[in-house]
Amino acid sequence: MPRPELQAPPEIFYNEVEARKYTTSSRIIEIQAKISERALELLALPNDGIPRLLLDIGCGSGLSGETLSENGHHWIGYDISSSMLDVALEREAEGDLLLADMGQGLGLRPGVVDGAISISAVQWLCYADKSSHEPRMRLKAFFGTLYRCLARGARAVLQLYAENRDQNEMISTYAMRAGFSGGVVVDWPHSSKARKEYLVLTCGPPSAQTYQPKGKGENGELCSEDNESDADTDDSQMVDVYDRNRPRKKLKVKKKGKGREWVLKKKEQMRNKGYNVPPDTQYTARKRKARF
Ligand SMILES: C[S@@+](CC[C@H](N)C(=O)[O-])C[C@H]1O[C@@H](n2cnc3c(N)ncnc32)[C@H](O)[C@@H]1O
Repeated sequence: MPRPELQAPPEIFYNEVEARKYTTSSRIIEIQAKISERALELLALPNDGIPRLLLDIGCGSGLSGETLSENGHHWIGYDISSSMLDVALEREAEGDLLLADMGQGLGLRPGVVDGAISISAVQWLCYADKSSHEPRMRLKAFFGTLYRCLARGARAVLQLYAENRDQNEMISTYAMRAGFSGGVVVDWPHSSKARKEYLVLTCGPPSAQTYQPKGKGENGELCSEDNESDADTDDSQMVDVYDRNRPRKKLKVKKKGKGREWVLKKKEQMRNKGYNVPPDTQYTARKRKARF
């Protein structure tokens, strides 16, 4: 099966059927949640319990944004596929959703955003889907506007699936030209299955405080998802990686919710009072992971 990027433009590929298929696959849900948690970790926001305003670029049906909500942050999601955003609305994603093409720039005021993540989306910019599309110009518009809207010193963590080295280089080049510093972090570099690349960017020139993360599994240890046959020992694909001191296991705190019944009753009461209340769906009052 060819890569999605080679099959159709994103707004066509992620149609109603694909958007639903994507969001109901428990495997995809689990993988996207893990990647998003890692991206949030690499953002290295101050650990002060203050909610931040973040971007989720290529937010899709809200799987990646859910991790941001679960960690108490506000977010704005950009996506080019109306079907993906419809599913996000249905799932009652907590972010503000924008139907927009990141290749045309983000259109936000300077310095208003505390951080950005993008999960499995930015590689789409490397493909020209219309005669007017010039990937380099689109990358320039994207990184230029991303840089402008981030607060100085804020980070953007972009997990992406580039098709080849040229694409990787092109993406990094336009990030650096926009003014970002940083580099690529590779998790599980020896695994064909679990290997993931994150472009970790800091808004502004490198400084003593610039975070220098290190990829997981760099010393050859295998990811729990792997078995021996998955291990790919070809080091030639390694890119520049930074040092990182990983903090330990996260403590999850269980929080008691009021339950679906209670939420449905409250929604009904609000409706009776004439408020505009979203319809009840299978996602209403679903269990969420605990914040920590
Ligand atoms: C693999 S999905 C990932 C969705 C979500 N981040 C997640 O983790 O589940 C990639 C998303 O990128 C979006 N996308 C691709 N090109 C885009 C563009 N130029 N502007 C905005 N979104 C785009 C697609 O519509 C799709 O929803």
